[in-house]
Amino acid sequence: MSAPILPPACDDSIHVDLREVIHALSDALDLVGIDDVAHGKRVGIMAWNCALVLQRSRQQADFLFDLGLLHDIGVSSTRTHQHLVSEFDWAGSQQHCQDGASLLAGFAPLAAMVEPVRYHHTPWQTLSGLDLPLEVAEQANLIYLVDRVDAMAAAYYQGGELLMHTGAIRERIASYRGSHFAPQLVDAFLQASRAEAFWLQLEPRGIAGMLHDRRGERHPCTATTTQLKQLATLFSRIVDAKSPFTARHSQGVAGLSRWLAERAGCHPAAATNWKLLRCCMTLANCGCRTRSWTSPAGWMRMSAA
Ligand SMILES: [Fe+2]
Ligand SMILES: [Fe+2]
Repeated sequence: MSAPILPPACDDSIHVDLREVIHALSDALDLVGIDDVAHGKRVGIMAWNCALVLQRSRQQADFLFDLGLLHDIGVSSTRTHQHLVSEFDWAGSQQHCQDGASLLAGFAPLAAMVEPVRYHHTPWQTLSGLDLPLEVAEQANLIYLVDRVDAMAAAYYQGGELLMHTGAIRERIASYRGSHFAPQLVDAFLQASRAEAFWLQLEPRGIAGMLHDRRGERHPCTATTTQLKQLATLFSRIVDAKSPFTARHSQGVAGLSRWLAERAGCHPAAATNWKLLRCCMTLANCGCRTRSWTSPAGWMRMSAA
C-alpha cells in the first residue's frame, strides 16, 4: 500500500513582497490588452513623474506608480481595452472602474487603491463635488489624465513617431483643464512633459529600466491564508475574463484538481495551492492571440498545446 500524500505546511500567514505581487498582476493585465502591451506601466511611469513635479513624498509617488500599473484591473477583455485606448471619453468606461474597485476590495493589502480605481474615468467637474478626500480625488484624476495621454500616444509608439506629436497631446490635455482634469494636475503634467526624457521613458527600454529600478525596492508584507486565497481569486478573475472558454476550462480544471486532491488524501487547506497552480497554468496561455481565446476551435487548439 502506498504512503498517503501529506498535506503541505499550512501556516496562518505567509510573507510576500507586495511589489512583486503588483508587478505580477500588471503582467497578467498586459496579456489582456495583448494588442497594446504595457499600457498600465506607461500610466504608472507618467503618474510617478507628475508626482515628483507636485513634490509629493516618495511613498506617495510610489503608490501612484503602483496604482498606474493596476488601474485597469477591471478591464474584462481586449475589446474593452480597445475602446478605452481609441476613444477619449467612451460611454462604457465606468463598468471597468466599478469592476476593478470590487476586485481590489477583496484583497486587503491593496485596499487603498479601491476608490482611486473606482473614479479613474470620472471628470474633475463631477469628482470634485463628491464626498472624497482631496488626496484620493487627485490620485484618481491624475491616473485619468495620464491614462488619456497614453490613449492619444498609442497610435505613435510603434512607428517611433511619438516625439512629433507630443505638442498636440499636451495642447489637448490643456484644453480639458478644469473640466475633465484638476487644474493643478494639468499644470504638473505640462511641466513634467516639457522634457523629451518624459516621453522617452515610455519606450520599451525606458519601461524596462524603470521596472528594473523598482524591482530592487522591496515592499515586504504578511498575508494571511485568506488573503492569499483572495489574491488567487484576483489572478483567476483576470484570466477567466479573457473569454467564456477560459472561465469554463478553469472551473473544470479546478474541480478536477480538488477531486483528485481529496481522493489522494490531501488536507483541505491544500485547496489554495491547487487554485494557485490552476491560475499559473492558465496564465501561461494568456499571451496567445486573442482570436485563440474567443473561438471554440482556437481554444481547443491552444488547450491541447
Ligand atoms: Fe481605465
Ligand atoms: Fe487605462
